[in-house]
Amino acid sequence: MTAAIKIEGLSKFFRVGFWGRRVQAITDLSFEVRRGDLFGFLGPNGAGKTTTIKALMGLIFPSGGQAWILGKKAGEVGVRSRVGYLPESPYFYEYLKGLEFLDFYGSLFQIPKKVRVKKAEELLKLVNLEGAADLHLRKYSKGMLQRIGLAQALINDPELVILDEPMTGLDPIGRREIRDVMVRLRNEGKTVFFSTHILSDVEMICDQVGIVNKGKLITTGKLGELLNPRIEYYEISFSRLNPAELEGLKPWVTNTFQDGNLVHVTVPAEEHKDGIISRVQKAGGTIHSVIPHRESLEEYFLRQLNRSG
Ligand SMILES: Nc1ncnc2c1ncn2[C@@H]1O[C@H](COP(=O)(O)OP(=O)(O)OP(=O)(O)O)[C@@H](O)[C@H]1O
Ligand SMILES: [Mg+2]
Repeated sequence: MTAAIKIEGLSKFFRVGFWGRRVQAITDLSFEVRRGDLFGFLGPNGAGKTTTIKALMGLIFPSGGQAWILGKKAGEVGVRSRVGYLPESPYFYEYLKGLEFLDFYGSLFQIPKKVRVKKAEELLKLVNLEGAADLHLRKYSKGMLQRIGLAQALINDPELVILDEPMTGLDPIGRREIRDVMVRLRNEGKTVFFSTHILSDVEMICDQVGIVNKGKLITTGKLGELLNPRIEYYEISFSRLNPAELEGLKPWVTNTFQDGNLVHVTVPAEEHKDGIISRVQKAGGTIHSVIPHRESLEEYFLRQLNRSG
């Protein structure tokens, strides 16, 4: 089966200002998104995420390279009806009420009235806006607008959903609601592609991620494989160790912290872990926990960005 999204050597530059200075937004970008995946497109501000998404949606014309969605050339007529799209800054018709707004989008896809009203009601429920069906959009909060924007992207029951920063402007509960909806869509068999600069959103839910910086792809892959599996340090907790023995551990631990009866030590080197455990036990201490600490996505991301300058 063809990929849900395929991008090959995609480049885009803009001309800005009186002298037509060239701004390279994306450079030779290539990657694929498999069908059924929840894919996080991650990068800091100005990395080229929106430009890539606009090229995918056929809203801008690339300067070089090609993009396909659902096996068709990006921008080709006919494919749009199979894709749901939430732009970065969607425009809302403020005089419409929630349900009317979704109904209007449904009519753009020529969905029969009865079907689309039912679908609109379903979607309002999905994004937790049932109570706001009759409220004008101008009275919606930012989070509510973001959620109805997501519902709008789903009105045509798309196979592929492309969301540009769907969690922007949301509080933690709002972010979780959007995350839950994305996971649900993926579980229903849809492909979900979304951009973000917030790592924790990606860390929790994505099957695959692509990281971009300054218009270039830094890496793509499964999060578990991208993350350096190297354990940075161990935190060992124990009790009932006499002070002299505890003092004897000092050369191998960087941090000692006492919490009631429990002592926590940080062991930076893998090869010292077993030695410390057996030393504590031999001296009559009780081990309570040994916790490995791995590099987080946040740390990984910063390291990758530093490496790419
Ligand atoms: N229409 C345009 N004209 C000129 N430059 C543009 C245009 N659109 C984007 N750019 C430039 O291209 C680069 C990439 O922008 P883009 O909006 O794709 O980044 P982004 O990753 O979506 O950032 P953000 O996280 O802030 O949304 C930026 O340097 C931006 O200034
Ligand atoms: Mg953007």
